[in-house]
Amino acid sequence: MELTKNHIEELKKSSNSNFKIFINKISNEDTKLLYLLDNIGKLPRGFDEEWIFELSKHNNSKIRLSAIKNLGKIKSEKVVNFLVTRFEIEDNSSIKREIISSIGRQRNPTNKSVLYKYLYDEDPKVICQAIRALLVFKNDEEIISKLKPLINHQNEMVRTVIYKEFFVDSRRKAAIPHDQTYNYLKNTVVHGDVKNVLNFVDDESIHLTFTSPPYYNARDYSIYPSYQAYLDFLAQVFKEVYRVTKEGRFLIVNTSPIIIPRISRQHSSKRYPIPFDIHSDLVEMGWEFIDDIVWLKPEASVKNRNAGFLQHRKPLGYKPNAITEYLMVYRKSTTRLIDWNIKQYDKQTVIDSKIKDGYETSNVWKIDPTFNKVHSAVFPLELCKKVIQYYSFQGDIVFDPFGGSGTVGRTAKSLKRLFFITEKDDNYFNYMREKVTSTSIFEEIETDFLEIHQFKQKKENDTNTTSN
Ligand SMILES: C[S@@+](CC[C@H](N)C(=O)[O-])C[C@H]1O[C@@H](n2cnc3c(N)ncnc32)[C@H](O)[C@@H]1O
Repeated sequence: MELTKNHIEELKKSSNSNFKIFINKISNEDTKLLYLLDNIGKLPRGFDEEWIFELSKHNNSKIRLSAIKNLGKIKSEKVVNFLVTRFEIEDNSSIKREIISSIGRQRNPTNKSVLYKYLYDEDPKVICQAIRALLVFKNDEEIISKLKPLINHQNEMVRTVIYKEFFVDSRRKAAIPHDQTYNYLKNTVVHGDVKNVLNFVDDESIHLTFTSPPYYNARDYSIYPSYQAYLDFLAQVFKEVYRVTKEGRFLIVNTSPIIIPRISRQHSSKRYPIPFDIHSDLVEMGWEFIDDIVWLKPEASVKNRNAGFLQHRKPLGYKPNAITEYLMVYRKSTTRLIDWNIKQYDKQTVIDSKIKDGYETSNVWKIDPTFNKVHSAVFPLELCKKVIQYYSFQGDIVFDPFGGSGTVGRTAKSLKRLFFITEKDDNYFNYMREKVTSTSIFEEIETDFLEIHQFKQKKENDTNTTSN
């Protein structure tokens, strides 16, 4: 006979001996035992729970887990002592965590000393479970003194929980509302080195940064004395981007490993894994790694490295054509969930910003590259559109520190976002500016093209800084 919820309710109303008979009857039927445990709900008064203790030792780990969950409903010293003993014997880590959770659910201050022990367990999840259980008595001085030092714990998950509970000032407010930015940044392109321009940009003013930095010395628009100097330069820029980014908002960096050709036949060419090398710098400065998206190009669109191998077919000489670039996705660290960010917008903006069907469902995006006569490395519009739609709301300001031909600005505007761009190269800056008067990119947009001193002035004039 199939076991139903109604049947379980009937059983709960009948006598303990009836219940016992039933348990004995299904003792070899794991599915029924599990269904019973998962659906028994609140235990009636005077209920003989001995069978739950027994099932907590069952050799089926699912049954053990569910039985232990049910024990958490019974507030007694006997349960706590039983659970402590089970913890020692148990080797399934999920069940060990459930044991601590069940002790915690008793919400009994006398269990404090029992729980302290688990703060030193080897499994960080057990520690976090014990912390959660103890935080029920958050105002207890003794508990605070036990938990706060865990801010120095070796495990990052433990540190994060403690940081959120004891070290975050949840009353701290940004200078302007989350969904707004400063007028002096809106639809502005600044001609200058991004490092200098950012000196004049306020903290927490940018909603999204999407950029493709210079490719070390692979293209001629930027020359760095060494690869390390290049990485240091990017680290400086992204540290400033971090400062100007709003709480919990995103940075998407488009890079790929590059190749610097050999200087003579006696040397080999050198490959530099840019995305992998800047990653650790970004994480260290506080950017939280979120996703790695791969931009996949048609093989015919990239430089062919295969020709030699095609002829000789000798091992070690294999050179695949590089048809991918990375979009590394990071979020400015925060203890707040994404939901908090979303809640900072009015309902209509959230509705208007919803992403339509046909969005990318995987982290591999097949997009053809774009070729431009003036700039050698422009973002394809399609790529730019996706990033801006997936990682910003209408009305947000999107920043590109390495503006190039201004694709981010054009796309942001077409998607009802604002933009802020910096570009140091005269040609590219002029290219963007010329396009304003001709037929293309910024035509209908009132865009300010400024030198750094003019930008500084604009900011000073913008005393009444916040508006929508
Ligand atoms: C890979 S390109 C970006 C192309 C851009 N995504 C587009 O769609 O046109 C990098 C750009 O960064 C600019 N750049 C390099 N160093 C810079 C700096 N220190 N400050 C501002 N711009 C810089 C270069 O002149 C180049 O145009």
